Amino acid sequence: MRKQNIWALLLIAALALGFSFAQEASQRQAAVKEHHLGVSQNGTNCGICHAASAPEIPPDAACLKCHGSYEKVAQRTAAVEHNPHDSPHYGTTATCTACHSEHGTSGAICSDCHLFKYEM
Ligand code: HEC
Ligand code: HEC
Ligand code: HEC
Ligand code: HEC
Repeated sequence: MRKQNIWALLLIAALALGFSFAQEASQRQAAVKEHHLGVSQNGTNCGICHAASAPEIPPDAACLKCHGSYEKVAQRTAAVEHNPHDSPHYGTTATCTACHSEHGTSGAICSDCHLFKYEM
């Protein structure tokens, strides 16, 4: 093989490696929660929450496709002291992403004012 060809091959290999690193990095930035690995093909299927090709903050409907209805979600935490899904202020209307983050740390907005203990 001529020297030129070897350099060309090395260049292609380097580009391919760089591309796969870049791809991996962008997926790591958008890592999903452990409880969603099973439904998202290990975090690679972004489309279960993001319909648009350019991801936006998902509307409640995207979560409720799988989680049923707000009332169903509220039932799951009915035994939690001060049900975050059915509060005297917002009832069953507060938007999911006000408290739940998928790629970052979740935090109940209730804690802006109250000292309730939640497990998120
Ligand atoms: C493709 C289906 C699917 C979508 C879409 C989805 N989830 Fe889930 N989610 C699941 C499954 C399955 C589980 C694990 C079983 C369970 O707890 O229901 C889960 C678990 C969870 C849990 C943890 C439950 C626990 O036991 O601690 C939270 C919180 C949650 N989802 C919130 C959300 C929010 C918020 C959204 C929207 C941004 C969302 N999910 C979108 C399927 C989905
Ligand atoms: C006001 C804040 C808040 C909003 C809004 C909210 N959640 Fe939650 N959610 C929480 C907190 C806090 C917990 C954990 C409660 C605990 O167990 O301590 C939780 C727990 C859950 C769980 C796990 C319940 C279980 O079985 O333990 C699911 C599933 C869930 N939320 C889904 C949703 C979905 C879907 C929406 C929107 C329709 C939503 N949440 C809106 C605060 C919120
Ligand atoms: C289980 C639902 C879920 C899955 C799966 C998911 N996301 Fe997200 N994504 C969210 C939620 C909720 C937000 C809102 C911000 C947050 O919670 O971190 C978000 C926000 C984003 C944002 C920022 C949008 C904005 O306008 O601020 C980007 C970019 C993004 N996701 C990319 C991805 C990519 C890429 C994947 C696949 C590797 C992915 N997401 C998979 C739920 C999901
Ligand atoms: C902006 C501040 C603020 C936020 C955010 C907030 N609260 Fe409150 N909450 C208050 C104040 C102030 C009171 C007392 C005034 C009253 O009783 O009307 C109160 C009262 C309550 C009470 C007692 C009401 C009663 O009828 O006895 C409960 C339960 C409660 N909050 C739950 C929650 C939950 C759950 C969340 C999150 C979903 C939340 N709060 C978010 C400020 C807040």
